[in-house]
Amino acid sequence: MTSSVTPRLDVSSAAVNDALGRASDGRPQLSDACTMVIFGAGGDLAKRKLFPAIYELAHQKLLSQDFALLGLVRDDMSDDEFRKELRESISGSDEIHGFDAGVFEWLASRAFAAKGDIDDAAAYDTIRKELTDLRTALQLQNENVLYYLAVPPSVFRPALTHLSDSGLLPHSTNAGDSPWHRVVIEKPFGHSLATARELNELVLARFGEHQVYRIDHYLGKESVQNILVFRFANALFEPLWNRQYISQIQITAAETVGVEGRGKYYEEAGVVRDMFQNHLLQLLSLAAMEPPIAAAGNAVRDEKVKVLRSIRPLLADGIPAAVRAQYIAGTIDGKPVPGYRQEPNVDPKSVTATYAALRVYIDNWRWQGVPFYLRSGKRLAKHCTEIAFQFRSPPDLMFGRKTGGVRANTLVVRIQPNDGIALRFEVKTPGVAYELDPGLETSGVDMDFSYAEAFGEDVPPAYETLLLDCLVGDQTLFTRSDEVDMQWSVIDPLLDYWKRRADRQIPTYEAGTWGPKEADELVARDGHVWR
Ligand code: BG6
Repeated sequence: MTSSVTPRLDVSSAAVNDALGRASDGRPQLSDACTMVIFGAGGDLAKRKLFPAIYELAHQKLLSQDFALLGLVRDDMSDDEFRKELRESISGSDEIHGFDAGVFEWLASRAFAAKGDIDDAAAYDTIRKELTDLRTALQLQNENVLYYLAVPPSVFRPALTHLSDSGLLPHSTNAGDSPWHRVVIEKPFGHSLATARELNELVLARFGEHQVYRIDHYLGKESVQNILVFRFANALFEPLWNRQYISQIQITAAETVGVEGRGKYYEEAGVVRDMFQNHLLQLLSLAAMEPPIAAAGNAVRDEKVKVLRSIRPLLADGIPAAVRAQYIAGTIDGKPVPGYRQEPNVDPKSVTATYAALRVYIDNWRWQGVPFYLRSGKRLAKHCTEIAFQFRSPPDLMFGRKTGGVRANTLVVRIQPNDGIALRFEVKTPGVAYELDPGLETSGVDMDFSYAEAFGEDVPPAYETLLLDCLVGDQTLFTRSDEVDMQWSVIDPLLDYWKRRADRQIPTYEAGTWGPKEADELVARDGHVWR
């Protein structure tokens, strides 16, 4: 069965639009005039995600005419060379809706490169001079600046310190200050609870929280934002969204890719820092939170923090209900792939986890006793991110005795691929089942909503949404300092526990499978199986 959906851009109430700074028809307003300074403009993130997102915002006329781009690069690069790179990454991207030469030329004429070493105070003098020059050249009427740290986490501290010391990013106490100065900080925000706290201390000592945009790109995904709308804009499901009707929840982020040349980073991070501390805990919070008083700003973040606070410590029973493992060579899509230890820049004796699974309990009124199983891994059998809510089985009275029981309903929020929502329920199988009482045979069927079917290609990539939010000053989809702190507080004890066992062997799984057998045992102990 396929649902019939009437596509619409309604963001529901005028109040929400006001709160988001959106026009009354729900479409985002033109973003504020501003200059965006990208640190790490020669890097992978800038080329793959940021440049296409900026272009697409221009293409959709969402960028101010007074926009300018300054890319900080490590090596000598002329403005023309920078524009050439900009063109290559934009025209080659599958995240844009067609390449319009006119739009690109407009953007290119406002794009400049500056050479500088992030660690070096001199780079900040260069930035100041470039900002003055480009404001004169483009006759910009505004001095708003968005700094984007698309750089390795090891240079977050020096970059933020220099930005503050140089006065380029002055402290503001009021979100309404004009001109505004904001900074976007990529993940990972810290390496542990202690280092995240140190970074937060630095950030909050030097800037106002309203100036700081900590990115978790999962929050920019349409299907992730839709969790809130689906839960709270429909009267149908919310009454069932609790321990009385839901028996377990499985959150899966499975990837078929390996570490994609990021061996050095991944050796330090591992799957728990890379995926659980941020993306999976965000999905968990959105799936479990109470209704916020508004769909924007701090209201949503307040409720997410409450969920994180209610998570039972992973080491409450001494031993965590958690499994980790590392992939060995195997086959993906019919092609042989190497094991993790054979990847470039990976220690041949590494015990870094590329897969983990955990059981989490949320000790609050709504979820007491309901297990949330979280799993994520590289080089798994299928690329799939989803949240599956399994409802309780109906009483066994009518069907159970004859048919062996009916399956419990499942509601699956598909984050990717094929973003959408599927509801599985039981129907009568057509025909007569002679060996049973007539009419008692049942089958599971799906009611399926797919974003692509309903909205065509109109689903914007995460970075486009998030960049626009930075430019209009909407922090709803960014992680607040106390949220980051709580995420690390949940994960840190588990990392410590495993670190103390780092000399031991790590379980393995073959690339192209669904992970180690220990993960199956983890859910089997509670009488469940992975989807
Ligand atoms: C990133 C991780 O944050 O998310 C990567 O660093 C991971 O290791 C990626 O592959 C997954 O993102 P997505 O959007 O492809 O699910």
